[in-house]
Amino acid sequence: MDQSNRISPQSVNSDISEIQPTQSTRSRGCIRSKLTWIIFTIVIIAGISIPTAIILTKKGNVVETNLTTIITTTGKGSTTLMLTTIKSSTTTTTAEPGSTTTQAVCQSDATAITFDDIPSANPREAELPINYAGLTWTNGYYINITTSPKSGYRHAVASGIYVGWSRDPMTMQTLSANSTMTFVSCIMAAGWSNSTKVKITGYYSNTQLNTTTYSLNTYTKTSVVLNWSGINKVIFTPSGSGDIDYGMDNLCIIF
Ligand SMILES: *[C@@H]1O[C@H](CO)[C@@H](O)[C@H](O)[C@H]1NC(C)=O
Ligand SMILES: *[C@@H]1O[C@H](CO)[C@@H](O)[C@H](O)[C@H]1NC(C)=O
Ligand SMILES: *[C@@H]1O[C@H](CO)[C@@H](O)[C@H](O)[C@H]1NC(C)=O
Ligand SMILES: *[C@@H]1O[C@H](CO)[C@@H](O)[C@H](O)[C@H]1NC(C)=O
Ligand SMILES: *[C@@H]1O[C@H](CO)[C@@H](O)[C@H](O)[C@H]1NC(C)=O
Ligand SMILES: *[C@@H]1O[C@H](CO)[C@@H](O)[C@H](O)[C@H]1NC(C)=O
Repeated sequence: MDQSNRISPQSVNSDISEIQPTQSTRSRGCIRSKLTWIIFTIVIIAGISIPTAIILTKKGNVVETNLTTIITTTGKGSTTLMLTTIKSSTTTTTAEPGSTTTQAVCQSDATAITFDDIPSANPREAELPINYAGLTWTNGYYINITTSPKSGYRHAVASGIYVGWSRDPMTMQTLSANSTMTFVSCIMAAGWSNSTKVKITGYYSNTQLNTTTYSLNTYTKTSVVLNWSGINKVIFTPSGSGDIDYGMDNLCIIF
């Protein structure tokens, strides 16, 4: 998030008489001192709102700040008028230049696993920590999608900049074998091959409860809706030809 992208100063050459309608010479002195006070007030407001906007921006992708600066130049000096708008959203994602998506991540009772909150995350990609987001992971990886712009992961990403991925059977299970979860849904896409299939299987205590297979491709996202409850382990198993890497994001889990 580059702050400088949000600030677009524009020099507008305008005469003060464009702002102030034609006045009689008698009242001009009075108007000018009022104008000085207005400018002074605006500068004070701007002085408060700019640092606030910067703080809000630093809070990550929960709050997005849009700053528009209009600089009005007069003959006798320069006056700065600040217009500040603050836009809030649950998640705002820039998947590729020029495209922005905003959506609620999960139904209210579910936790979203977004791969964007991994402690000390590698800026490119790495294996998932064994314990991440309240689950134990085996053969799971995460990747910053901007490092692989030609892959289908740009369609798997549903929030932030990271997706989870693997090319092997990947397991996620509850931290305690006796606790269960509901696997509500997730977003998936193939990394490289349009013939990628992923079998998803839910278990409790090594007893298979639910299974399904999704066909993935590299050019569109696949919404996986399962709503499997009472499970403590999920295994994703890919098959197909070529590089059968599969990506996922926004896993909605009820613990
Ligand atoms: C900020 O607002 C302006 C005008 O509404 C818009 O053109 C621009 O794209 C916005 N920038 C961001 C980062 O939302
Ligand atoms: C993701 O990778 C890009 C370069 O491709 C880098 O500029 C950016 O900082 C990385 N994001 C994170 C969160 O590390
Ligand atoms: C888990 O459940 C089993 C059988 O229901 C029980 O024997 C065992 O003590 C439980 N373990 C824990 C850590 O609660
Ligand atoms: C996957 O299909 C899309 C759309 O038909 C195509 O553009 C892309 O090249 C295909 N990818 C591969 C690796 O064949
Ligand atoms: C998952 O499997 C259980 C046990 O077979 C079954 O009761 C349940 O309806 C299945 N859930 C779904 C969403 O298919
Ligand atoms: C999952 O099932 C619950 C009820 O069992 C339902 O309220 C909810 O809408 C379902 N969610 C999805 C994504 O289908």
